[in-house]
Amino acid sequence: MKLSVLLLLIALLFLFLVEIPAQSKKELTYTKDVAPIIKSYCLPCHLEENENPSGLALDNYDLLMKGGNHENTVVVGKPQESNLYLKILPNPPFGKQMARNKKKLTDEETKAIYDWIAQGAKK
Ligand code: HEC
Repeated sequence: MKLSVLLLLIALLFLFLVEIPAQSKKELTYTKDVAPIIKSYCLPCHLEENENPSGLALDNYDLLMKGGNHENTVVVGKPQESNLYLKILPNPPFGKQMARNKKKLTDEETKAIYDWIAQGAKK
């Protein structure tokens, strides 16, 4: 009887240890989390075939990581230095807040961009 209670407790503890880190460490990827945001807010302006003054094409991961004229588009691990993040905030370091005249990103989407860069900007 006592042994089965103990085993149950150990099983519960095990579940907790497995579950909690899995939830708090939700890893963001370009494909799953960032590309859909870019697609709905930043295109077609930032397509390679469009002439846009920033020199920033956002068609795919490689072009995004290559960056625009001001460089530092994505500084891996450092969202506070990344123009991709700074430009979606009010009062960016240069030019206008993105997505310019279109609608702004929600707080959740803005945070997703921040977290994605902070986590290492995985593809
Ligand atoms: C209506 C067209 C348009 C849309 C939509 C748009 N941009 Fe831009 N973007 C521009 C133009 C024009 C510039 C250059 C002028 C400026 O910096 O304000 C620019 C500049 C930038 C730059 C600076 C690149 C560099 O190195 O010079 C970044 C970063 C950027 N945009 C990100 C985004 C992101 C992220 C989105 C979507 C959330 C977005 N833009 C949506 C037109 C657009």
